[in-house]
Amino acid sequence: METFRFIDLFAGIGGFHQAMSSLGGTCVFASEIDEACTEVYQKNYGMKSLVNIRDVGAGDIPQHDVLCAGFPCQAFSQAGGRAGFSDKTRGTLFFEIVRILSQHHTKYIVLENVKHLVSHDHGNTWKVISGALRELGYRTTREPLILSPHQFGIPQTRERVIILGKHDPEHVDEPLPIEFRGLLTKDCNSIYSILDQGPVDPSYNISDYERMVLEAWDEFRQGVGDDVVGDAIWVESFRFKGSMRGWADWRIKCVSRNMRIYEEHRQFIDGWLERHNQLRDFQPTHRKMEWQCGRDIKTIWDAVIQFRQSGVRVKAPTCFQALVAIIQTPIIGKLRRRLTVTEAARLQSFPVDRAGSPFCVDPSRRLAYKQLGNSVNVEVIRQAALRLLSL
Ligand SMILES: C[S@@+](CC[C@H](N)C(=O)[O-])C[C@H]1O[C@@H](n2cnc3c(N)ncnc32)[C@H](O)[C@@H]1O
Repeated sequence: METFRFIDLFAGIGGFHQAMSSLGGTCVFASEIDEACTEVYQKNYGMKSLVNIRDVGAGDIPQHDVLCAGFPCQAFSQAGGRAGFSDKTRGTLFFEIVRILSQHHTKYIVLENVKHLVSHDHGNTWKVISGALRELGYRTTREPLILSPHQFGIPQTRERVIILGKHDPEHVDEPLPIEFRGLLTKDCNSIYSILDQGPVDPSYNISDYERMVLEAWDEFRQGVGDDVVGDAIWVESFRFKGSMRGWADWRIKCVSRNMRIYEEHRQFIDGWLERHNQLRDFQPTHRKMEWQCGRDIKTIWDAVIQFRQSGVRVKAPTCFQALVAIIQTPIIGKLRRRLTVTEAARLQSFPVDRAGSPFCVDPSRRLAYKQLGNSVNVEVIRQAALRLLSL
């Protein structure tokens, strides 16, 4: 298909829009209820998207060849023995998709969701979705298609289920022959491939407090050596003396491991705690550390770090964890700073480096991270849609 028309439902800042227009598509309708997202959409694509999809009659949506939607995951009704799969979707946002497809019989569909959709509600959610699409006459892939940007050389692990469908009621039982060859593993990636070149706004630098915490944990890694690799280090459990009766197995395992590490490195750890004022100046969650980057990374400054509720998490510099709206922005150890908004946009494959009209993010840094965290990865959608549209 050389040129085609698409609609962008739950449009956000237009991850689908980017992917589909790069394949020659023209957007004829977009729907989104978050005002800040719609402003970014208008600025980048010159289109209004502020409308609740529930308020739009299917007949008011223009004719289109491709329906795109990253819809929220909700539980479906299991009741009603005679109800068809489509009926079971009533009241959910997936039903809005069903409603539009029933009227338009759109030729192609590209849907995206969290990987958990497949196992959600003991598999019932997936059963209802695939059943409803089949009922509407869509052929889909035999197995749920799970893809992540790192498989295409973008250093982010973000596994998402992509549902591809072609309207073909006469062959609805024939799976779509969609294949991905040569997908990359995490280790083939490097976070340095998407970093900003040149100077970065100093407000991205880590604070003096964060530097103090990371220096202390780096010293710990040097002193304890490869014993840091594994479950979380919990300073509070080094000298645990009470009873573990009634505890969950994982907690017993973790505390026992910390007690063993303390016994084996007692001299170093006592000195370390003394040098750092028993970590009294650390916030409680920073008194825990998870070294999740194996033995090969010898210093925290070669890793990617996140300050999380579960502790200071240290990861290998191959891939960033999935950008998600609620999780703290990762720190690039080597550069002693956080991932910038432009880097976050590159991680989601938005064309921030395009000459002429680069993609413009929200002017608020907080909102820009949030919107990018909620968006789809453009390249993943582009790769999937490329294969679908050639069928
Ligand atoms: C997971 S995000 C999708 C992001 C989008 N695919 C992108 O690339 O930026 C889901 C979006 O659905 C929007 N949404 C939720 N309910 C909606 C509704 N009733 N009508 C339109 N949009 C809605 C949310 O505001 C949110 O931005």
